[in-house]
Amino acid sequence: MAEVVLKDVMKAYGAVHAVKDVSFTVEHGEFVALVGPSGCGKTTTLNLIAGLIPLTDGEIVIGERVVTDLDPKDRDIAMVFQNYALYPNKTVFNNLAFPLQMRKQSREAIDKKVRDAAKVLDITHLLDRRPRELSGGQQQRVALGRALVRDPAVFLMDEPLSNLDAKLRVQMRSEIKRFHHNLNATIIYVTHDQLEAVTMADKMAVMHGGCLQQYDTPANVFANPINTFVASFVGSPAMSLIPVDVATEGGGTVLRGASGWTLPLSAINARKAQGSSNGKAVLGARHSTLKLHRTALPGAVPGKVYSVEPTGDVTFAQIIVDAEVVNISLDPSVVIQPDEAVWIEFDQDRMHLFDGQTTMALKAAE
Ligand SMILES: Nc1ncnc2c1ncn2[C@@H]1O[C@H](COP(=O)(O)OP(=O)(O)O)[C@@H](O)[C@H]1O
Ligand SMILES: [Mg+2]
Repeated sequence: MAEVVLKDVMKAYGAVHAVKDVSFTVEHGEFVALVGPSGCGKTTTLNLIAGLIPLTDGEIVIGERVVTDLDPKDRDIAMVFQNYALYPNKTVFNNLAFPLQMRKQSREAIDKKVRDAAKVLDITHLLDRRPRELSGGQQQRVALGRALVRDPAVFLMDEPLSNLDAKLRVQMRSEIKRFHHNLNATIIYVTHDQLEAVTMADKMAVMHGGCLQQYDTPANVFANPINTFVASFVGSPAMSLIPVDVATEGGGTVLRGASGWTLPLSAINARKAQGSSNGKAVLGARHSTLKLHRTALPGAVPGKVYSVEPTGDVTFAQIIVDAEVVNISLDPSVVIQPDEAVWIEFDQDRMHLFDGQTTMALKAAE
C-alpha cells in the first residue's frame, strides 16, 4: 500500500521552477529522505506535500486520497521543523496536549495520548517543565512528540536536526531512526546532509536544481550513482571525478588523461566507455577503492600529493591528478609528504564511468 505518491509535481514562482516534474512513491512505513544542496527544492517539495503551498501542476496522493486541492489540516499529516517553535509559557505536557485540545478531544483521551507519546520519546520525566528548562535535544523530542500525538498518516520533517550541535545531531539521528522503527511510521525527511540521508532513510530522493536525480535505497545510490552529480554528492570524502578521453591503444580501449597518462580498461569497462556519446568520459572512484604507490606501475595514474589529513583511524590524502583533486584513504602507518610524486591504482570492479557529455553513468551494451 503506497502512502504518498507524487506524480509530475511542479512548482513555479514566475520564471523560477523550484520543483520540476518530480514523481516518486513512498510506501507505508517507509522513511524517505529528500536530500540535495541548498536551493534544490526540498522544502518546496515538502510544503507541496503538506499543502502549505499550491501546486503549479501535477498530483499528490496520501493514503487512498488525491489531496492536491485539500487544506493542510485535511491531509492527515504532521510537520516537524528545524525551528521547533514550542509554546514557551506552556509545560511540555500542555505543548503536547495543545493540538489535541484544539480538536476538542476528551481530557482522558488527551492525557493518554500525551503520556503514550512521552513514553515513546522518553520525556515522561519532563512533562511538567517549560521549554526553557530543556536542552536542545529535549526540545526537539518534544517537537517530535507534538507531531506524534496527532497520530498522522505521514510525518513531514524539514531539517529537524540542523539547529543542534554536531554531537547532539548524531544522537538525535539514532533517536529519530528508533522513533521510525518503533512506530513503523511513514516519514518524509528533508536534509541537506547526505550522511543523515544515508544513515537514516530506507530510500533517498536526491534532488538538484528542482529535479529528482535518483530515488533508491542509500546502498544502491552509493553503489550505482546515476550521474556525476549524485556520484559527487553522496559519500564523504566525495567520489573523485576525472575527465578523460576514451582512446584505443595496442588494440584495447583505454582512458587517456589530460596530461597524457593512459589507463587500460577491463572488458566490461571498455564496453561502457565505448558507449560514450562524444568520445569523452568521466572516471569516478571512491577514496576507499584506490591504492597508492610510491613508484610508477603499469596502468597506475600519476599524481602529486596535495594535502595529508590524519584522523587517527584513517588518513585521508588529496592527490592532484591533471587538474583534479583525488581523495584517497590510507592506513595511518603510511607516511607521505605534500608535493611527493605518487601513482594511483584504480580498482576495475569498483570504478565508475560517466558520459563526458550527458554526465550519466555509462552502461555496458549487451
Ligand atoms: N516563495 C518563493 N518565491 C520565489 N522563489 C522561491 C520561493 N520559495 C522558494 N523559492 C526558490 O525555489 C528554489 C527551491 O527552494 P527550496 O525548496 O527552499 O530549497 P531547499 O529547501 O532545497 O534549500 C530556490 O531557488 C528558491 O529560491
Ligand atoms: Mg529547505
